Amino acid sequence: MKTAEIRRRFQAYFEAHDHRALPSASLVPAGDSTLLFTNAGMVPFKDYFLGVEKPPHPRAVTCQRCVRAGGKHNDLDNVGYTARHHTFFEMLGNFSFGDYFKETAIEHAWRLLTEDFGLPEERLWVSVYEQDDEAADLWRTNIGLPPDRILRLGRKDNFWQMGDTGPCGPCSEIYYDHGPEVEGGLPGTPEEGDRYIEIWNLVFMQFNREADGTETPLPRPSVDTGMGIERIAAVLQGVQSNYDIDLFRNLIAAAAKAVGTKDLNAQSLRVIADHLRSTAFIIADGVTPDNEGRGYVLRRIIRRAVRHGYQLGCREAFLPELVPALVAEMGEAYPELAEAAPRIEETLKRESDRFGETLSNGLQLLQGELEKVSDGVLPGEVAFRLYDTYGFPADLTADIAREHDLTVDLAGFDQAMAAQQKRAREAQRFNTGLPVTGLAPSEFVGYDDLTGESDITALFADDAPCETLKAGQRGVVVLARTPFYAESGGQVGDHGRLIVEGGEFRVEDTRYLGNRVIGHFGQLQGAKIKVGQPCRAEVDAERRRDCVAHHSATHLLHAALKNILGDSVQQKGSLVEASRLRFDFSHPEPLSDGQMQEVSAWVNRVIRENHAARVKVMPLEKAKAAGAEALFGEKYSDQARTVKFGPASFELCGGTHVGRTGDLGAFVLTGQSAVAAGVRRVEALAGAAAERHIAGQQACLQQLGAQLNANPDELGDKIERLLGERRELKKKIAEGSDDSGTSEVREVAGVKLACLQLGPAEAPALRKRVDDWKRQLGSGLVLIVSLSDEKVLVMAGATDDLVKRFPASELIDALMPMIEGRGGGRASLAQGSGRAVAGAAGLADAACDWLAKRAD
Ligand code: SER
Repeated sequence: MKTAEIRRRFQAYFEAHDHRALPSASLVPAGDSTLLFTNAGMVPFKDYFLGVEKPPHPRAVTCQRCVRAGGKHNDLDNVGYTARHHTFFEMLGNFSFGDYFKETAIEHAWRLLTEDFGLPEERLWVSVYEQDDEAADLWRTNIGLPPDRILRLGRKDNFWQMGDTGPCGPCSEIYYDHGPEVEGGLPGTPEEGDRYIEIWNLVFMQFNREADGTETPLPRPSVDTGMGIERIAAVLQGVQSNYDIDLFRNLIAAAAKAVGTKDLNAQSLRVIADHLRSTAFIIADGVTPDNEGRGYVLRRIIRRAVRHGYQLGCREAFLPELVPALVAEMGEAYPELAEAAPRIEETLKRESDRFGETLSNGLQLLQGELEKVSDGVLPGEVAFRLYDTYGFPADLTADIAREHDLTVDLAGFDQAMAAQQKRAREAQRFNTGLPVTGLAPSEFVGYDDLTGESDITALFADDAPCETLKAGQRGVVVLARTPFYAESGGQVGDHGRLIVEGGEFRVEDTRYLGNRVIGHFGQLQGAKIKVGQPCRAEVDAERRRDCVAHHSATHLLHAALKNILGDSVQQKGSLVEASRLRFDFSHPEPLSDGQMQEVSAWVNRVIRENHAARVKVMPLEKAKAAGAEALFGEKYSDQARTVKFGPASFELCGGTHVGRTGDLGAFVLTGQSAVAAGVRRVEALAGAAAERHIAGQQACLQQLGAQLNANPDELGDKIERLLGERRELKKKIAEGSDDSGTSEVREVAGVKLACLQLGPAEAPALRKRVDDWKRQLGSGLVLIVSLSDEKVLVMAGATDDLVKRFPASELIDALMPMIEGRGGGRASLAQGSGRAVAGAAGLADAACDWLAKRAD
């Protein structure tokens, strides 16, 4: 049974049992930031399980494209090493949203496998969650499975969860026994191998897992099942490895040709075929290679594939060449893949070429290092050098090391990475590279004054000391005394000007050059200056005022977080700018909306209490003993500067601050995010920036109100109504029940041709309409043209008596040029799509011409 046939039969079985067939959703989960990629068939339905949204129908069946690379379910490292792991796979699944539960799910699975797919019962084993007596009883009594073929396994094997949070529940898995000639012990035993292969997972969705680990019951128990199509295809095609099924055999043959090898059993070809599928589909779904997030997973997979091609001797970008083979295999089931083909080819080409440039040098270095290893572990520092200089993702290095029976010290890699990031940060902040030895520390007078007279003590241009700067020249000016604050403690450096006779030096940044020498970075205008000359320094007062507001607000925010979330909150970093502030701190989970409001209210209350700032320099030990907040790991001198706002906040700090908390005016929290495990980031505004933000939000509300013809307080209801209407419309489109559109039955050479012209619709709905029309015509052809703003979808069908004379697939081929599209299919049903919407109007006439010509 071919893969395409399995897809069709699975869907047909569940449709016959009142399941709604829904299309595969994108690999990028819509509106769900908890997941990197859609990793199971249930992902698009998360909100149905949670009861947040109402499903279009209580039962559904899908064939969902999935990626398991990165995140909770990550199979990347297994690809090529086992017969059944993929980064990309298709999951067949049936779903009950609060409708049927364990009993019906088990019965359907058993009937489909043993009756429709004809699998011998004695080859099937099942497992249940160890505490799930109900499922075990159902298998024994309803199905009649002998108790020794019902295994009870623990949470690791038989409790399914989508990610760290989300719907989850106990599951029951069905295994196929490939027979004693294949090695491997029973599931759940340490000898697990390739003999008993899990083919279907029935999940009894019962809970929602929260970030803190609690599991709350779902509104109604539901069912989510998943069967990897590649595994069931292997079983039904009588092969042991997924890579031997029809679809993979064709891809592997194409890959062998592209890289120029004859050895079809090469493990690298399997990896390439697998990675071709994941990268092409990920790109089709809109992701581009990047250095973080989904884009980095994509980049890693492409780079691994390129390296496997290199291993087989190929030095050219071969992945783009394989895209047509993939489209031939999967384009019919996934028209979006065919449509995106040019973009996929271009992205794979660019990314392969880019990596190809450094790959061979990196491999050479790695080879030398691998030979030096004596304890079985490649040092993390080597892996880091490969990453940093040659763009080798750590898992790629691990993949290569594994081929030499070595592992990589990944903790060491992380350490080297962290150390480099720290160096880069410090270099940016302190190490300007300018030679300052011998220069006296600058006296900072900017706590009290924003202007002052001083002499120029040193000048730098082009990274070297100099005696003079010419008009127009860029450089760095050092003063004996300066009101300019140099970037430190998170607060950015001041801007302003140094006025000299006949011109001015515009200060664009102020930074420590080392040894407490303050450098003013910028450009000279209109005059020449030389060392020893006097100047008048003027800080940009407005910008400083805004920085000051954000710095004091940072202290109040820190105190608020400690008060509301507890003393475990530790500052991990902060950024104080004129336009905003950012504060990172240790905390294990996101702040709730209520906590965010509380924090904001706390800070605003302290602002209104209008505490005076009390700044005192005191011995460090005394300051700490008095409870001043000090940053862990930060170096302070023996004499510490402390800043106190009434009873609210007390910190060690060298920064500049408001005179009274009331000077802040207002404080707004604008967002929160996660920066690393256990570290949260909040962003906020104070002073004029906060006022501007509030005014902007009000203007936005007013504009929305005007657009929707509602008062701001009615907007929620109005939008809810509109969304409801939108859902209804989407549902109609998905069901193809939108009554708009036209139909007419023409007759050419004695053959009936039903022509339908519709608005936007999904392919499954169109297929159903073709079937309806075929039934209605008895004998004839059907042509449906579904038109949206940017796309034409064409579906054609022929009744059985006409498939030989008028194959629908050939009609589609004849029509595609008119809409610059691509298509394919069978003689009884075919489809295509294109973007040249102007051609849509002539399709029906062209179909008549085609009919007439063929009838001759
Ligand atoms: N969600 C389950 C799985 O991925 C069943 O669909 O295995």
